[in-house]
Amino acid sequence: MSKAGIPLSSHESCQRGIETRDHRHHSDHQVQFYVEDASFLDSLSRSIGTALGGGDSAVVIATRTHLDGLTGRLRARGLETQRAVETGRYIPLDSRPTLSKFMLEGWPDAARFAEVVGGVIETAKSAAEGDDPRVFAFQEMGALLWAEGTSGSALQLEQHWNDLGEKHSFFLRCAYAMQTFDREEHDEAFLKICAEHSTVIPAEKYGALIGKRQRLRNITRLQQKAGTLKLSHEELEMRVKERTKELQQENLQILEQAGMVEMANQGLRELSAHLLQVQDEERRRIARDLHDNTAQSLALLSMNLSALKTEATEWYPDLAEGLSENLGIVKQISTELRALSYFLHPPLLDEVGLESALRWYVDGFGQRSSIKINLELHGKLERLSRNLETAIFRVVQECLTNIHLHSESPTATIRLSQFPGKISLEITDEGKGIAPEKLSKLASSGLPGLGLRSMRERIKDFQGDIEIISQETGTQIKVIVPLAAAAS
Ligand SMILES: Nc1ncnc2c1ncn2[C@@H]1O[C@H](COP(=O)(O)OP(=O)(O)OP(=O)(O)O)[C@@H](O)[C@H]1O
Ligand SMILES: [Mg+2]
Repeated sequence: MSKAGIPLSSHESCQRGIETRDHRHHSDHQVQFYVEDASFLDSLSRSIGTALGGGDSAVVIATRTHLDGLTGRLRARGLETQRAVETGRYIPLDSRPTLSKFMLEGWPDAARFAEVVGGVIETAKSAAEGDDPRVFAFQEMGALLWAEGTSGSALQLEQHWNDLGEKHSFFLRCAYAMQTFDREEHDEAFLKICAEHSTVIPAEKYGALIGKRQRLRNITRLQQKAGTLKLSHEELEMRVKERTKELQQENLQILEQAGMVEMANQGLRELSAHLLQVQDEERRRIARDLHDNTAQSLALLSMNLSALKTEATEWYPDLAEGLSENLGIVKQISTELRALSYFLHPPLLDEVGLESALRWYVDGFGQRSSIKINLELHGKLERLSRNLETAIFRVVQECLTNIHLHSESPTATIRLSQFPGKISLEITDEGKGIAPEKLSKLASSGLPGLGLRSMRERIKDFQGDIEIISQETGTQIKVIVPLAAAAS
């Protein structure tokens, strides 16, 4: 330590860690990094107090706030600066106007700097007392330039100070706020600034380690590194948080849309199930109407025509012949009407049940289509709900119609089995199969036909499953319906 209590320069520089200026000239050039103004001003006021108290001079080129803070602290230490200012032993200067005295086009001009700052040092030196007059100088003009983003100017200013140190003898301390080196890209300039100084003093927390200079340099370096890392970590965390928030919002929107689509789908399913039921009911009503009213009227017409024919046979044989012909037409209409009525809704389905209705339908279909139909009923088939029996009947009806219209199969097998809790239906043909492009469209319900789609809807309405397996050797349609759900 010097007499003024200031750490002296060290030749340990240029070792590992922060490279500092090889300080062989007679001036000492320190740099102090600080985090809090208060502790930095405390330490500075101690150094100035010691210098002034020992008869040395002090030059302080600092911001207005720091100058005021310093005056307050010196006063608190019992040191009235007024007298020292008057005698020129204490020269406090505002950094901003001082800086403007030697700045030229954004750079500190060497000649002007030597003139302005050298002049101040000279004045202070001549005012110092004793045989060995010394000057303690403090400056933060470099920090001002650095904070304004002109790192090159800050560095050049530090070099001018070093040049000045070759001509004048003084102790110099510079100060920089640690927070202004908080980015990765500050690393290089930070190291260069350190290199222009003979001693580096880390931020206040590590003050206790002063003296072990190399360690101090490393600590300072680590502090600066930690600052940049903390900042990039915080930035990263913020970006992750923002992105997470965005993704959560996008997710919510997708979920909302999916919910709306699902609701719309559910609505469509319910509507189509309802339409199929209405269609069944309407078919049942028309079938009953045809059977109970139209067929009865035709029967009455037929009876009347028969009675007329009996009477006409004796007196009007020609008329009797015409009546007989009309009777034949009425009979034919009755048969067709009965067939139409049964086809619309087989009365057997309601009266005797699915098994009898299927046997009757399969027989008739086999005869009309000349397809050899094999109906296999496994297990004892109990009566099911009216809607389920109708649904299974309609599935068989649609499958047989499709086999007849599209498959070119000579045969068809219908296998209906009842197991505990479920009913299974399989309809198989040996035809040419469903074309692959149509089969793939089945999954997306993109087929133009209604048969397979309404089949699917009917089965879904009973929480059942339908599977369509088709290849060039034939088609198989498998249906499973749980009975507990069907009963409801
Ligand atoms: N057993 C089958 N063998 C071969 N192709 C079939 C078979 N069943 C269906 N298809 C094919 O699948 C298509 C869709 O059948 P779907 O029953 O849905 O409609 P469709 O019979 O054409 O018309 P709709 O039934 O509405 O009168 C048919 O057009 C046919 O090409
Ligand atoms: Mg069809």
